[in-house]
Amino acid sequence: MDKILVLDFGGQYNQLIARKVREQSVYAEIKAYSKISPEDIKKEEYKGIIFTGGPNSVNEADAPKCSPAVLNLSIPVLGICYGAQLMAYLSGGSVGKAENSSEYGKTELTVSGGKLFDGIPEKSVCWMSHTDYISSVPDGFEVTARTDKCPCAAMSCPEKNLYAVQFHPEVTHTEYGTDILRNFIFGICGCKTDWKMESFIDVSVEKYKSELKDKRVLLALSGGVDSSVAALLLHKAVGENLVCVFVDHGLLRKDEGDLVEKTFKGKFGINLIRVNAQERFLSKLSGVTEPEKKRKIIGEEFIRVFEEEAKELGKIHILAQGTIYPDVIESGKGDSATIKSHHNVGGLPDRISFDGIAEPLRELFKDEVRQVGLQLGLPEELVWRQPFPGPGLAVRIIGEITKEKADILREADAIFREEVKNANADKDTNQYFAVLTDTRTVGVMGDARTYGYTVALRAVTTDDFMTAEWTRLPYEVLGRASSRITNEVKGISRVVYDITSKPPATVEWE
Ligand code: XMP
Repeated sequence: MDKILVLDFGGQYNQLIARKVREQSVYAEIKAYSKISPEDIKKEEYKGIIFTGGPNSVNEADAPKCSPAVLNLSIPVLGICYGAQLMAYLSGGSVGKAENSSEYGKTELTVSGGKLFDGIPEKSVCWMSHTDYISSVPDGFEVTARTDKCPCAAMSCPEKNLYAVQFHPEVTHTEYGTDILRNFIFGICGCKTDWKMESFIDVSVEKYKSELKDKRVLLALSGGVDSSVAALLLHKAVGENLVCVFVDHGLLRKDEGDLVEKTFKGKFGINLIRVNAQERFLSKLSGVTEPEKKRKIIGEEFIRVFEEEAKELGKIHILAQGTIYPDVIESGKGDSATIKSHHNVGGLPDRISFDGIAEPLRELFKDEVRQVGLQLGLPEELVWRQPFPGPGLAVRIIGEITKEKADILREADAIFREEVKNANADKDTNQYFAVLTDTRTVGVMGDARTYGYTVALRAVTTDDFMTAEWTRLPYEVLGRASSRITNEVKGISRVVYDITSKPPATVEWE
């Protein structure tokens, strides 16, 4: 199978690059620049290498740099943004910082030729995000594109199959980005299209069959699509040796626990243990209002529950998790800034009594995970089930968490979800739920004054949950949900709709 190596220098878009390559039916894998030697790159027989962007300046002493030998392996290389500057630097060119050389956003690109731009018009729009620029092109290279501010927006050395672009071809704002990547993958690297989602399943199952041979694996199954797909994948690899633990932490949606149990124990015959730990979690969370603290507490408590389960089960070697790529990037792994510590990454305590961790979906985006789920026979309703965060309703109850608040929110949330579904509006939104704010307001019911909570309804439309638009749900749906919630749920006197996109807001309120 032909494969491309995405050499990671800490950029925000590195996974997107891999995904764009995979979308062309060519396998791509990401490796940190420091974790793979030129010899190993050669051994792996990659058909091409892509240097990612990154936040550093190549002139800094401790900037991430691979060995210059990577450029001399007779494997085509495409440098993107920081990767382009690194290619220039390692090849004897120079990178500078000029007052007005930085560019951010959509920029007009003028190309002047070269294989990378085959079939691309002379003028188009590209996406720029840089402060440094290639100030002197290395010997043997020629400039193949420029912008108003950037004298070298692309360069190439066809003899050595080295190509570099200052802009980001992987983001949709670059008009011909996909064509440029295709030119690299097919025109320059000569890759064959021989990769499909089934191949991901086969490769993963084979990998875990040998890596986890005779090991017992404990998986945190929440019933969300990520952990469900991880469970099915690992079940295929290790069968009976997989034990799924489903923790009911008291912050699940209405009737969720029973559904999970029925599906995985019943339909798939997976070894599933349901732990009822509601009181334990609620008592730990008592009095805690700070969102990050709530996440950490839940994350740690989760791990403790697993440790205890593991002890009961005898020797368990591996803790498996359904972590997917957006969880990794938003938790500040690698070099991107921490936005929230998702419980399944950030809250993991250092002291852990398993030998290792398996995260089979760590490189995938949500829609890729769904494809894997469908391939593995996960029922459609679970594949398309909206995501639910690990910490559950804890990140949807603002302020202190109590059982009473969780019960109120569960009812309101169930009504909202039912109304959206009944109106068939769930097709237009990727995640929709209710949030219990910590604000109480005055209302009137009959002739009496009420003083109840404000519930916020949230619905977002998104491809990858890294950015999201608030969904324009029909007023009738919102109206019906509001009137049912205020009538049917005791303790709520007002309903509002959240009309903030991400960024600047996040999907969850905490
Ligand atoms: P945010 O709020 O970060 O949410 O914009 C993006 C997506 O991630 C989900 N989410 C989580 N998932 N553990 C998870 O497994 C978490 O701690 C967590 N926090 C947010 C969120 O529901 C949305 O789909």
